[in-house]
Amino acid sequence: MHLATLRLQNFRNYPALELPLQPGVHLILGRNAQGKTNLLESIAYLALGRSFRVASDRDLIRWGAPEMRVAAGVDGRLGRFTLELEYSWRPGEGATKQARLNGLKVERLSQLLGNLLVVVFTPGDLELVKGPPACRRRMLDTELVQLNAGYRSAFARYQRALAQRNSVLRAWQASGSAAEPPPLAAWDQELAETGARLVVGRLQAVARLRKLAAEAHAALAGGSERLELGYECSLGGKRNCLANDEVYLFGGSPESPAPDVTSLTEVFLSELHQRRPEERRRGTTLVGPHRDDLALWLDRRDARIYASQGQQRTVSLALKLAEVRYFQQVAGEFPVLLLDDVLSELDEGRQTALAQALGPVTQVFLTATALSPGLRDVWPGSFEYEVQDGKVTRRG
Ligand SMILES: Nc1ncnc2c1ncn2[C@@H]1O[C@H](COP(=O)(O)OP(=O)(O)O)[C@@H](O)[C@H]1O
Ligand SMILES: [Mg+2]
Repeated sequence: MHLATLRLQNFRNYPALELPLQPGVHLILGRNAQGKTNLLESIAYLALGRSFRVASDRDLIRWGAPEMRVAAGVDGRLGRFTLELEYSWRPGEGATKQARLNGLKVERLSQLLGNLLVVVFTPGDLELVKGPPACRRRMLDTELVQLNAGYRSAFARYQRALAQRNSVLRAWQASGSAAEPPPLAAWDQELAETGARLVVGRLQAVARLRKLAAEAHAALAGGSERLELGYECSLGGKRNCLANDEVYLFGGSPESPAPDVTSLTEVFLSELHQRRPEERRRGTTLVGPHRDDLALWLDRRDARIYASQGQQRTVSLALKLAEVRYFQQVAGEFPVLLLDDVLSELDEGRQTALAQALGPVTQVFLTATALSPGLRDVWPGSFEYEVQDGKVTRRG
């Protein structure tokens, strides 16, 4: 798919922008602090309903303005559609956020998701390998909320159940009473049911990604090392993972089938039961997909521990390329790819490998501070734009 138009009003440092676009590679060039990342952020905001940089939408409103708006026309496999997201904040009135799909207001923001598909790659993603598990979980969740409507609703329900359950546990911890608070059992059930869906969704994603990531990694690293992915699940007592085309789960043999939602819900519930005393003592939920991890191994060694700087780069790049292919396999079309400032982090060999791997992708946005000498050779036929102080001009 590709964006055919992008319109911004009072988004970050863009007072007003109207940009006609086409398929192909878009090089977004400009000095620091001119609005390159803001532009990519606006596109991702339409796709994900939130910023990839900040938690609060208020930061996205141009300073001094009461509201902002992002809109795009998108050409996808099923034809042209439009997306719009408006956010306002006024003292005394608070915040309002409204999304429109093809001009019609949607009741829930989640209805916006899954229409415009994006994969974002920022310098922060170079932390994917050695960063905390949360950043690897976020990668899986960001893919799955876009590609899988069932995952999307389970994800929202899980977050709510987790927050509510944690507040019940905190209150219980503070009360010092031995009697279990009545709401806990209901939250157990909701957490287990939705959490089981998340684990099953992630296991399916990892099963596909591991092959794609291994291929992408072999192409980038010249086949010198083997990248393997696994899923480490906090449920089931011992660490469970997926490796070597075999599923090792919950003490089962490699041949045991991938777990279904019903059996995982049971495992989750019994685990919660066993952990009651500890959860009460610590006032928080200790098991579940919010504690899981995506495992990464290079030649059978844990890359999260042992990977060198260079190996981390290659692995994170391979993961991103695998993501792009995964979207294409599941959705039947390529996502819009947003590459923020990553070229400067890659040596020439990796840059060339990246450009080759991205050849088939329909639309790519790539920011850089300068057009380095080889850049035009690496990205032939790309469109060049200059960003200056919230204004974008097409070059050439
Ligand atoms: N809410 C906002 N309103 C106005 N300007 C903003 C807002 N948020 C960030 N900016 C400005 O945007 C610029 C940074 O834009 P960014 O896209 O991150 O730069 P770069 O081109 O280096 O990627 C800075 O000048 C910053 O002050
Ligand atoms: Mg930037």
